[in-house]
Amino acid sequence: MDNNHPVGIFDSGVGGLSVLRRIRSDLPHEALLYVADSGHAPYGNQPAAFILERSVAITEFLLERGAKAVVVACNTATAAAIAQLRQQFTVPIIGIEPAIKPAVAMTRSGVVGILATGHTVRSAKFADLLDRHGRQARVLAQPCPGLADCVEQGDLSGPRPHALLERYLGPLLAEDADTLVLGCTHYPFLTPLIERLVGPDVAILDPSAAVARQLRHRLEALELLADRSGPGAEEYFTSGSLESTAQVMSRLLGYSIVLDALSDPPLGLEISHQDPSAADRRGPLDHFES
Ligand code: DGL
Repeated sequence: MDNNHPVGIFDSGVGGLSVLRRIRSDLPHEALLYVADSGHAPYGNQPAAFILERSVAITEFLLERGAKAVVVACNTATAAAIAQLRQQFTVPIIGIEPAIKPAVAMTRSGVVGILATGHTVRSAKFADLLDRHGRQARVLAQPCPGLADCVEQGDLSGPRPHALLERYLGPLLAEDADTLVLGCTHYPFLTPLIERLVGPDVAILDPSAAVARQLRHRLEALELLADRSGPGAEEYFTSGSLESTAQVMSRLLGYSIVLDALSDPPLGLEISHQDPSAADRRGPLDHFES
């Protein structure tokens, strides 16, 4: 494996760019290969089998293009697929999960709110994370159907994300949550709106810095850090509409990108999008009380 091979990064859509931009700033010499599976977003209410098959197919695509490591820049895909990806592929696979541990260490009110997809909060991986790190605080997990879609459409501050966030944040604030975990990589793009709604006394945690750090450690350990002197190239692919996705991605990154079609849809799988489940429509799930 060559040091200057790219790092592959994927998400259900454009949200993983919140991770990519952190990797870009912390590891500027790495070439980056990004897949936005926007044609199948959101993953949040898809069956685990569908997310797993998409994740395997996209990882295969990234490896065919020479990826030396793969970052699953999606909490939902990490919950559904990371164990299988690590079993099936030999390159380092780095995932992302809600930052419960730092949030529990940080809260002063003893109440932590987590915004994530329905799939993430119902996953066994999330239950395990809560079990390991969530016992010292009251952790309220709020599924947020519709929110990733707003970001996917480039709507970061309009009436729809505003109304959804008011609905999802209200119960958390009413319970005195003073620390908020962004458990979906789409949500950091909504941070200015979230800050306006929660005020200055609520800390907002985004784990993308930890992912970039972990990627560096893994590449360092394998002596695979890029050794070029200039900035690494960036290549972008999507299964969604080229024109509108390129527009949204360029806006989120703050610079223009060239977007290619994810060639040869890797899956013939036809599983239709499901309605948000009843579980997503109720309030936050109260997992632990200390
Ligand atoms: N960005 C994804 C995550 O981190 C999920 C968004 C979706 O539902 O597709 O969970």
